[in-house]
Amino acid sequence: MVSGDKAFPPIAALRRDFLWGVSTSAFQIEGAADEDGRGKSVWDTYGERGDIANHDTGEVACDHYHRYREDVALMQRLGLQAYRFSVAWPRLLPEGRGGANEKGLAFYDRLIDALLAANIEPWLCLYHWDLPQALDDRGGWTTRDIVSWFADYVTLVAGRYGDRVKRFATFNEPSIFTLFGSGMGGGKRDRTGVDTLHRAIHHVNLAHGAAVDILRERVPGALIGCIHNVQPALPSSAADQQAAATCDAYWNKAYPDPQCLGVYPEQMQAAIEPHMQPGDLARIKRPLDWFGLNHYSPVYIKADAGGRLGFGFGDKPPGTPVTAIDWPIMPAAFRDTLLLLTGRYKLPVYVLENGLGNHDSLDANGAVFDNDRIAYLRGYIAAANDAVAAGADVRGYFVWSLLDNFEWDQGYSVRFGVVYVDYPTQRRIPKASFDWYRGLIAAARSRA
Ligand code: FCB
Repeated sequence: MVSGDKAFPPIAALRRDFLWGVSTSAFQIEGAADEDGRGKSVWDTYGERGDIANHDTGEVACDHYHRYREDVALMQRLGLQAYRFSVAWPRLLPEGRGGANEKGLAFYDRLIDALLAANIEPWLCLYHWDLPQALDDRGGWTTRDIVSWFADYVTLVAGRYGDRVKRFATFNEPSIFTLFGSGMGGGKRDRTGVDTLHRAIHHVNLAHGAAVDILRERVPGALIGCIHNVQPALPSSAADQQAAATCDAYWNKAYPDPQCLGVYPEQMQAAIEPHMQPGDLARIKRPLDWFGLNHYSPVYIKADAGGRLGFGFGDKPPGTPVTAIDWPIMPAAFRDTLLLLTGRYKLPVYVLENGLGNHDSLDANGAVFDNDRIAYLRGYIAAANDAVAAGADVRGYFVWSLLDNFEWDQGYSVRFGVVYVDYPTQRRIPKASFDWYRGLIAAARSRA
């Protein structure tokens, strides 16, 4: 492919009402960490502990809390129909439970109203990793009590925003925050290990089921799903087949299988069993309206006898094309994943994250020509089109992300936005990919 090529991907197979959007999350963009009564989240703690690259923190991030109007205007310029954001549990309930924080609630009122005024559908994700620290102190996801704490939080959200918001996601990537919290993590935020991982998996699943019931009851017309990170787990060598299958169970199936099929993957059934109470699987498997997919690349897995779960990250085949942050670029794996999900879970799929992480910088004229991002997006959207042509039920595509933002452990060193954020000034500078995506959306939406 010619570098700098601005061509659009084929989209003829995509539905006329295909939804184009972008996604963000609260902790990654909002900032205003100590403002208007917000409580602390675990990610504030990791920042304070100096666990993040360059000692970055989420204190200011993209200052979206104050600049949301400008950000909604950028979305409007993109011409998108939908915006996925998350609500910060500790902004609404500073202690995680108990008294609600009116100023925090009012922020999302303003945001939602601005989106609706711009004709952009709000997609509200209830949990994008920023657990209130006060609840983590009480055991977080490892205690079953959290199911009712989460239910109370969801009741608050449903009551406050359910008149204007109909699209709800219960969780973002439950497998990632639990696996990297106690199993695959480098130890920094491990609670203790494998037993806590299995407890956490089960409690997150129960919290998901409880949330679905609350939203159904309290929000007429709610359309509910959960957002999963599904990446093919490929063996690094022939000897790593079993390790890759185990990884697949934990990474890709530990949540959607019980939520949609009512059963845990075989590899973890015995370990979950001690935490199971009668009726739990029925509590978890509640009717859903859609499947949220976040996908970036496959993962290469090797057997690791010393690892807690018997697997770890392995080598990629030599010559695998990769991004600047070493993630494989493999649109065919995306196409296959979309087909697999349609067949396995039989729900409409929305791609709620896909994008390219880079070390973008401003050129001498103050512009960002992120042609590698454009090439990546083109390849992946073409793969979605191929998947649909082959029978996958894909209804929408959301780029991660609108803005460069706080990329978890990597802090601000990795940029995923179609808009460049100049952190010292908070100036937003649309990149070349912004114009490209705007053109693509316009072309897609003008199809007869
Ligand atoms: C996903 C996360 C999202 C972002 C992207 C790059 O795993 O859901 O918050 O960090 O990766």
